Amino acid sequence: MALRNTPAWEALVAHQHGLDATHLRSLFASDRQRAARLTTQVGDLTIDFSKHLVTDATLGLLTQLAQATGFDDRREAMFSGERINTTEDRSVLHIALRANSPVNIDGEDVVPEVKAVLTKMARVADLIRSGKWMGATNKPIRAVVNIGIGGSDLGPLMATKALRHLAPTDLTLRFVSNIDVAALDAALVDLDPETTMFVVASKTFTTIETMTNARSARSWLLAAVQNENAIAHHFVAVSTNTEGVASFGIDTNNMFEFWDWVGGRYSVDAAIGFSVMCAIGSKSFDDFLAGFRLVDEHFRSAPLAENAPAIAGLLGIWYRNFWGWQTHAVLPYSQALSRFPAYLQQLDMESNGKRINLDGEPVDVDTAPIVWGESGTNGQHAFYQLLHQGTTPVPCDFIGFLQPEPGHIDPAAAMNHHQLLFANLIAQSEALAFGKTSGEVASAGVDPGLVAHRTFPGNRPSTIITAPALTASVLGQLIAFYEHRVFTQGVVWGVNSFDQWGVELGKVLATAIDAELDGSPNPKAHDASTNALIARFRNHQPSANSGAT
Ligand code: F6P
Repeated sequence: MALRNTPAWEALVAHQHGLDATHLRSLFASDRQRAARLTTQVGDLTIDFSKHLVTDATLGLLTQLAQATGFDDRREAMFSGERINTTEDRSVLHIALRANSPVNIDGEDVVPEVKAVLTKMARVADLIRSGKWMGATNKPIRAVVNIGIGGSDLGPLMATKALRHLAPTDLTLRFVSNIDVAALDAALVDLDPETTMFVVASKTFTTIETMTNARSARSWLLAAVQNENAIAHHFVAVSTNTEGVASFGIDTNNMFEFWDWVGGRYSVDAAIGFSVMCAIGSKSFDDFLAGFRLVDEHFRSAPLAENAPAIAGLLGIWYRNFWGWQTHAVLPYSQALSRFPAYLQQLDMESNGKRINLDGEPVDVDTAPIVWGESGTNGQHAFYQLLHQGTTPVPCDFIGFLQPEPGHIDPAAAMNHHQLLFANLIAQSEALAFGKTSGEVASAGVDPGLVAHRTFPGNRPSTIITAPALTASVLGQLIAFYEHRVFTQGVVWGVNSFDQWGVELGKVLATAIDAELDGSPNPKAHDASTNALIARFRNHQPSANSGAT
């Protein structure tokens, strides 16, 4: 049966019509316990769902929807290693990367293998971190450059920035993802090849951006060191493709493997997190994994009505499908989490940006929203105008911490900054929810011609996630929270959240067009616009054929 025709869906449509005119002001005014009742605790995360456009009945109906779409069975299927990534015939076991108890695929426990790789990573990462890993000319490595893209970049980059306070100040960490040579150039401009380590991070070890950057990095190293043996001292690889790593020239003893049952966007806690481990050390990486595990245990065991990631996912469905809102903003009031929105874009949009369901039929409802965001308070001075007074509401996630990360600024000054930062988080979620009525504006003596302009409708929902501080464990908890939020939505929409066929066509076309940009004669096999773009590029190269069209 089409999803929109199921009783659970139809009940939510009817319920939304009844709630359309209800304001958060009245929901709070009529229920003094609302904030306490709709705030939940998972590990260190305090998650306040009270500023959502929901009643207890809404949450009950959303829970019924999840149950009707087989949530309990799907969740158990993931945790028990079933091949739920059906289009690639793979298990989906990022939860095994942080498990402390057996996780089986086809009857075989994969956890010992996971632990063995972590031990191998820890040995190398701790040597690099402490300055004991020597380059080819016997100088200690003091810069680590991660070369990867998508899940092989966004997670490590985000986490390394988030946990900067745990990294030694004399170890430089850089990330190169874009194939634009400017990215590699900017990363290497002030580095010394003799003290630089490259981490080539690629699940497939075939991704064109990563392999192109890695080859140029290898040339940069060899131009300075002029000894092929230097590669073993200056390159490690993270991949599932041992052959590819070996043929690139990297010693497979210096390769950290992971498995096809880990999706790229779910791999920051696999060996893809090697650069994070170099930054924070193996002990803190263990804390990071413990944070994931804590939320995994909650997600697996908590009933739906008390299951925080599932509730967050269902609230996303509530707005996307029953209110028709198209985007979702993630607003960390934390400079350390400045790349968290970008990380979540891949996690969410590559997972659930799907139009075909598990039966191979078109999904009959909207799927993933556009996820976007920026760290507070920067966003306030850019796009919050739209959040407060634009015509389409944007559900928001506010994320903040009660204490700043330890740093080098005077503690009293740091606390002053932090208090202002947190005050802004509170203020924005309050302003979005409750707004300012025209009556309130008018009674403040505002020029009558400006009253409408200065009125805030409010009733704009948000989740507020806070934790005592941004520790390695808390970061793991946050990531796992969002992983399971995405999972929940995928279950309800009935899509495969673990493939990404939509990225293929552009890759194939780019390879063909690359050959055409310097081939001969000038190709005209495309549409007129594409042909003109190819010709324009060719005509501006030094070797341009004067006869090109
Ligand atoms: O093109 C998308 C994608 O396949 C992502 O899913 C993945 O994270 C990224 O490319 C990088 O892939 P790899 O780790 O194999 O280089």
